[in-house]
Amino acid sequence: MFTLTVNGKCVETQKDQKLLTFLRDDLRLTSVKDGCSEGACGACMVLIDGKKVKACIPKVSTLTGKSIVTLEGLSERERAVYVHCFAEAGAVQCGYCIPGMVISAKSLLDNNLNPNRDQVKQAIKGNLCRCTGYVKIEEAILNAAHYFRDNLPIPPRERQASLNIRFKRVDAEEKILGTGEFVDDIIVPGMIYAKALRSKYPRAVINRIDISKALAHLDCVRILTEKDVPNKKVGHLVMDWDVMIPEGGTTRYIGDALALVATNHKETLDEVLSLIEVDYTELTPVTCPTDALKAEAPLIHEQGNILRKEVLRRGNVDEALKNAKYVVTRKYRTPFT
Ligand code: FES
Ligand code: FES
Repeated sequence: MFTLTVNGKCVETQKDQKLLTFLRDDLRLTSVKDGCSEGACGACMVLIDGKKVKACIPKVSTLTGKSIVTLEGLSERERAVYVHCFAEAGAVQCGYCIPGMVISAKSLLDNNLNPNRDQVKQAIKGNLCRCTGYVKIEEAILNAAHYFRDNLPIPPRERQASLNIRFKRVDAEEKILGTGEFVDDIIVPGMIYAKALRSKYPRAVINRIDISKALAHLDCVRILTEKDVPNKKVGHLVMDWDVMIPEGGTTRYIGDALALVATNHKETLDEVLSLIEVDYTELTPVTCPTDALKAEAPLIHEQGNILRKEVLRRGNVDEALKNAKYVVTRKYRTPFT
């Protein structure tokens, strides 16, 4: 039996499981999100004895006697300030990363109510956001510091959306506090669980997928491969992305799915997945757009590696350059994502 304190309450568990699983599945604390399960994204950030920690890393057996705080354990005032400041800054889009961001913000502001932007950046270094971008999140945290420091009252929420009035996202509060329901938060009586088997290599030919041993597992309900999928391709601009890679097909990245396993219990998913045997022929991957453009580059897409070529001309560039007082010639790079 392991005993720890969560949001001020003493709780116990028999199972030595990851803290994240205990908080989400046993205590149903949905602000603690599972973004990667392996310490990379920060969506599961909690405070342990006042220090921010990714809950997907420690097992409960290492936390006996420790005090864990999740967003659900923040005071009314703290919740109101973070909701107001994140919504006001427009720092919430899908909202999946935000509860983890708020915990990192709290770990900073609990010790320093007058941080500069670099300190805020440092505080959220372990939190990834794939949609909002970090500038607005930093602004939200700097503003929250201002609210706490000067004990500012929270302005009332605007009730009507109309032109010329700033209006916060209608679902900002539930996303910031982690009470909104994502697919991973839904629990239905009698539900089964599913997980994809993903390619071990970014680029490899899939010679054979043998699911027989996995199917024989007592907890396995069903295993789907490409043969079971009627619509085999998806895509945004071009429908050329395989839902699952078939035998004989070639993977394009390490996240390509080869099979989908369904079991009665969540805990057996990895065990069943590990019983699927895949025979790969590993190939050299293409890891950057510049390499993909080379004449000898392997085709990642059947129609070629260039999605579309567009030429945009406005005015007379040569003449404008000739008449310009200064001409700066440099190489500029944009971030990878
Ligand atoms: S779920 Fe813990 S760091 Fe991503
Ligand atoms: S708001 Fe979507 S990941 Fe951050």
